[in-house]
Amino acid sequence: MTKIITDIETAAEEIRKGNITGLPTETVYGLGADALNDEAVIKIFESKDRPVFNPVIVHIRDVSDIEKYSSDIPDKVYDLAEKFSPGPVTFVLKKKNVISDLVTAGNDSVGLRIPSNHIFREVLRLAGTPVAAPSANRSGRISPTTAEEVLKEMNGKINYILDGGKCEIGIESTVISFLNGGIRILRLGYITKEDIEKVTGKINDKITNDFTDPDSPGNISPGLLKIHYAPATPLYKCNEPEIAGGVTGLQTGILDFSNYQDTKEIAFNLYSDLRRLDESGFDMLLYSEIENTGLGAAINDRLKRAGSGEIILSENSYKIINNKND
Ligand code: TXA
Ligand code: MG
Repeated sequence: MTKIITDIETAAEEIRKGNITGLPTETVYGLGADALNDEAVIKIFESKDRPVFNPVIVHIRDVSDIEKYSSDIPDKVYDLAEKFSPGPVTFVLKKKNVISDLVTAGNDSVGLRIPSNHIFREVLRLAGTPVAAPSANRSGRISPTTAEEVLKEMNGKINYILDGGKCEIGIESTVISFLNGGIRILRLGYITKEDIEKVTGKINDKITNDFTDPDSPGNISPGLLKIHYAPATPLYKCNEPEIAGGVTGLQTGILDFSNYQDTKEIAFNLYSDLRRLDESGFDMLLYSEIENTGLGAAINDRLKRAGSGEIILSENSYKIINNKND
């Protein structure tokens, strides 16, 4: 029912018609709709089973579009855009009225991103409208990084998936909020805190991972739910993944990064590897954290959200600490 296509015009027409379609970006595949058409945006929430309180990123073509859809734009946004846009960074800014409350989930802010993927950019040009697009997975599941993975998530729910090959980055954009005069990283991503601070100076805020933080209304990222990016097989952080099978008696699959050269290569393969292991019939999946700096911090963040907790092995016993019980 859902077709994988390569014709960009067909995908753009689908957007113009008010339908949703799978689209490649440099980070992960998105599920795109005309951001200015409420009926189209509703289809995003329906097809993903996305909670209505979780706002959707609006993709635009040029830096000059930022002021079409947002106001009170600090200079630092332009400084960052000059360095990192088009690319994997999303700016959360005060929204203008043309952006409906549906896209922003009732927030007074909008997340704007200028993607670099040339196929997505061509869709934006041909559709002639900003494109609202969350990652093209069912809510809470692993983000897809190939057209075939989108098909597994969305088969029958959309007409087309525009094939752009495997996403070159592999994890989602960095989301930065500029509300209330501050700068705050709402979601770690490919552009690291260190990259951002080189442009903005030190960001004092700690990175928020608590979407219920009552002290910062409007400065939260509702998408930062505790369970996110999750495989169906339970995933645990483990101090000694290689011997866990022997100790627990369970069939364990290990997310093994040892053959990858650097964190870029880990990010590129992360979701596909997780998906492949998830489909392999293991009782449990295990990973070890990587060094928690730069892109490594974003990768650890995704693994933690995908995971159910930690399993600690000692001699012939083990202890499981679940962190998803609340
Ligand atoms: O790389 C990406 O950002 C991908 C590609 C498709 O562009 N998109 C993506 O969208 O990851 P999604 O919906 O899976 O995640 C968007 C995140 C969520 O955590 C959401 O809560 C946050 O951005 N967000 C969007 N608009 C926001 C707003 N106005 N205020 C706070 N957070 C916002
Ligand atoms: Mg997502």
